[in-house]
Amino acid sequence: MLDTGLMDISIEIIPAAATRPLRQRLLRPHQRAEELVYVGDDDPDSLHLGARAPTGELVGIVTVSRTPPPNSDNDTAWRMRAMATIEPMRGRGIGRALARASIGYVAARGGRLIWCTARIPAAKFYEQLGFERRGDVFEVKRIGPHCFMERRVQPEESAWWDDVVEPADP
Ligand SMILES: CC(C)(COP(=O)(O)OP(=O)(O)OC[C@H]1O[C@@H](n2cnc3c(N)ncnc32)[C@H](O)[C@@H]1OP(=O)(O)O)[C@@H](O)C(=O)NCCC(=O)NCCS
Repeated sequence: MLDTGLMDISIEIIPAAATRPLRQRLLRPHQRAEELVYVGDDDPDSLHLGARAPTGELVGIVTVSRTPPPNSDNDTAWRMRAMATIEPMRGRGIGRALARASIGYVAARGGRLIWCTARIPAAKFYEQLGFERRGDVFEVKRIGPHCFMERRVQPEESAWWDDVVEPADP
């Protein structure tokens, strides 16, 4: 449980479909939620996490999938994407908790690298988590400038997975 100072937030495994309304609202408002199905979303080892408030509302999301970086065949690399926290809850550690849980998941599966294409205004957030920029800034149509970022994953970081709430058995 994450104490944000306002309320306790739990980091939970959620279905891919549950991420789409926040992907649409916070990341790609020019697209429809049903268009926001990303490659790898439904891969068996892909992970979708939600930060849930006591009211049941999802206040943050992230997805990780086993995907090599561009022009690489590194099968220990995972991609982090669709990271977002709702505006009133930003700056309270929710994004960091989602990212750490994702890194924990990757570490527990033998992953050794995690990467993302970061929006430039969010690059500092990723730097705080140990990601480093690689290469030039590039433009993504209708969204803005991005940079490639990556971070090594250490086996012991699997401990960051421990606080995640897994769905109850039906
Ligand atoms: C980027 C984003 C996910 C961060 O979520 P958040 O819940 O506010 O992040 P946290 O509160 O966990 O921040 C962790 C650290 O990063 C810093 N940080 C967060 N966002 C930052 C930003 N935009 N610029 C600089 N630093 C930032 C925080 O100050 C904090 O630092 P601290 O450890 O020194 O206190 C959120 O701002 C967001 O949803 N932005 C819009 C969508 C987006 O751009 N997503 C990323 C797509 S690549």
